[in-house]
Amino acid sequence: DKCVAIIPAAGQGKRMNASVNKQFLSLQGMPVIVHTLRVFDECAAVDEIILVAAAGEEHLYRKLITEYEIRKLTGIVTGGRERQDSVYNGVLSIRGDCEIVIIHDGARPLITQDLILKTIAAAQETGAAVVCVPVKDTIKVVGENQRVKKTLDRQLLWQAQTPQAFRYGIFIEAIESARADRFMGTDDTSLVERLGGDVKVVLGSYENLKITTPEDLILAEAIMARRNKQCG
Ligand code: CTP
Ligand code: MG
Repeated sequence: DKCVAIIPAAGQGKRMNASVNKQFLSLQGMPVIVHTLRVFDECAAVDEIILVAAAGEEHLYRKLITEYEIRKLTGIVTGGRERQDSVYNGVLSIRGDCEIVIIHDGARPLITQDLILKTIAAAQETGAAVVCVPVKDTIKVVGENQRVKKTLDRQLLWQAQTPQAFRYGIFIEAIESARADRFMGTDDTSLVERLGGDVKVVLGSYENLKITTPEDLILAEAIMARRNKQCG
């Protein structure tokens, strides 16, 4: 039974404020999305990759896949309005027997094979797994007129990243149920959580940042430069 990676890359990147989709921006001379795809392509536990692209951008990804020889890519599907819609289109396009589906943001190019392997193993064990890191800052709930309502206990708070992985049947049930109830989650495991499913946390890395605002690109560039130096 195979493991399929779904890479949602169909957002608009509004917070990045760039003239192109942030997944096409260059990091160490290579587009962000190519970094992301390469790590999955080179991971022995991943059998297939499905990329979710914004309508009209499919051909741009197709060119990159050819140019950078991403071997495991089996499909480019068109995304939807919200990230959850894009993920839905991606999982629905899976063909044949699938044991594990692993979902990873196209905009997280600093993912490592080690984290992919740990997330898949955790999903095989409990059915669902999410990579998280402890929050660094104190988090406050703020109400109207910029007034603090309360301060949350930082000991209990973790930031969810991707990858998030699932046994296939568990995820299909969760995302179909969310659609039926018009529930929109901001991450993938929340769909399983709302059905009472067991979700395991995999300790992630602060380096696995999501390219969201311009300073993230500067940080990612620095982390990659250091990694290249260590390898080279
Ligand atoms: N994504 C997607 N389909 C959407 C929205 C987001 O596939 N309708 C993808 C993005 O391309 C990104 C990942 O989900 O790789 C995480 O989303 P986010 O960082 O919010 O990216 P954007 O939605 O593109 O950025 P913004 O919210 O700033 O517009
Ligand atoms: Mg978004």
